[in-house]
Amino acid sequence: MAQIQAVKGTNDIGPDDSPRWQFLENTLRSVVASYGYSEIRTPILEKTELFKRAVGEVTDIVEKEMYAFDDLGGDRLSLRPEGTAGVVRAGIERGLLYNQTQRLWYIAPMFRREKPQKGRYRQFHQIGIEIFGLEGPDVDAELIRITARFWKELGIKGLRLELNSLGSKQARADYRQLLVSYFESNAEQLDADSQRRLESNPLRILDSKNPAMAKLIAEAPKLSDHLDPESKEHFETLCQLLDDAGIEYILNPNLVRGLDYYSRTVFEWKTDDLGAQDTVCGGGRYDGLIEQLGGKPNTAVGFGLGLERALLLLPDDIPVAPQADVYLAAMGEGPARYLNGLSELLRDELPALRVMQNHGGGNFKGQLKRADKSGAQFAIIVGESELENRCVTVKPLRGGEQQTVSQNDIVDFLQNQYK
Ligand code: HAM
Repeated sequence: MAQIQAVKGTNDIGPDDSPRWQFLENTLRSVVASYGYSEIRTPILEKTELFKRAVGEVTDIVEKEMYAFDDLGGDRLSLRPEGTAGVVRAGIERGLLYNQTQRLWYIAPMFRREKPQKGRYRQFHQIGIEIFGLEGPDVDAELIRITARFWKELGIKGLRLELNSLGSKQARADYRQLLVSYFESNAEQLDADSQRRLESNPLRILDSKNPAMAKLIAEAPKLSDHLDPESKEHFETLCQLLDDAGIEYILNPNLVRGLDYYSRTVFEWKTDDLGAQDTVCGGGRYDGLIEQLGGKPNTAVGFGLGLERALLLLPDDIPVAPQADVYLAAMGEGPARYLNGLSELLRDELPALRVMQNHGGGNFKGQLKRADKSGAQFAIIVGESELENRCVTVKPLRGGEQQTVSQNDIVDFLQNQYK
């Protein structure tokens, strides 16, 4: 029968890949825990309308990349292309956002129907942080300090931080007019994509990668020269706080991000090591979104970090724990039955120890081979004579002398080894 293949742009994480994933996720989790943030989990499925309203009807994500379908009940649903909209929806619905602060994180799969290539997939994963109810640049700075700590703990080097402020809604609307007249007076230099955006989303033209438009974009009016005074002060304080923290950044006046909900601070961490997929992490403030989704106004700031991209940047020599610490091998049926009890006793007494028990029989050599493959430090071997003498044979697998240990002492023996 013909084999069924995985869906294009999706990946399996097999047993050989999972240690690196676990290292990545455990490190990220322990960093967010060290800042006192709480986890939130929201459904993968949401109403399509949510993303249209939050991410923006004329963004690439909503226009071209959503997995949207009609549910049998008649609802239009989408697999989430990003995490922020769902968290805000859940926060409003559960009364978590009004007049309070929340510092939330998630690790979750996202779906975008993009053209798959290295670092770009149709199902991918993000760690996201969303903070509500804190207005000042102090929390923007903490958010960026968290990302800097991610890189430090993961051993990822060579990323650069780009920073911009999109100002208030009003400042952006005024600037938008200015930009539209500038591009209109140079309309013959705009490519087809940008001409289309001139009406719908002119700020995104600044993000164009088309080299033929580079000069036009470089000479365009800058939002940073037209910020409202509060946003300007917010941004200057943020830069000051990053200087205090010793975090280097590049001011990029053309950084606008691909989602519509941002205001004031926006930032991206970029790399030269992943080809076209050069953004590893992106985020910013989205103070107007809660109201836009029907909640009472409150401020918000956050980021999303692509785990597949972070994984590609991890050093080769990350610490990977072996599958097992001890491997229990038995010669004969009686000894095999004895090991059932011993293995559970060891798990009761030494919960941190990884105990792998031989199953499916096999001769001595075969069992030791499996023991070696498990990565264990010790094989604990029990045959008929050990059973009779109420002892076990402990064979160090990475060098050292074999020894006999009484059954009564085996827990203490292992405890001493792993002190
Ligand atoms: P985003 O910039 O669309 O922002 O995505 C954040 C990160 O997700 C990207 O920097 C990238 O690492 C990863 N990513 C995006 N698309 C793909 C893909 N097709 N394959 C692999 N990785 C991908 C957001 O999603 C916002 N929700 C971030 C945010 C949270 N802003 C405020 N709060």
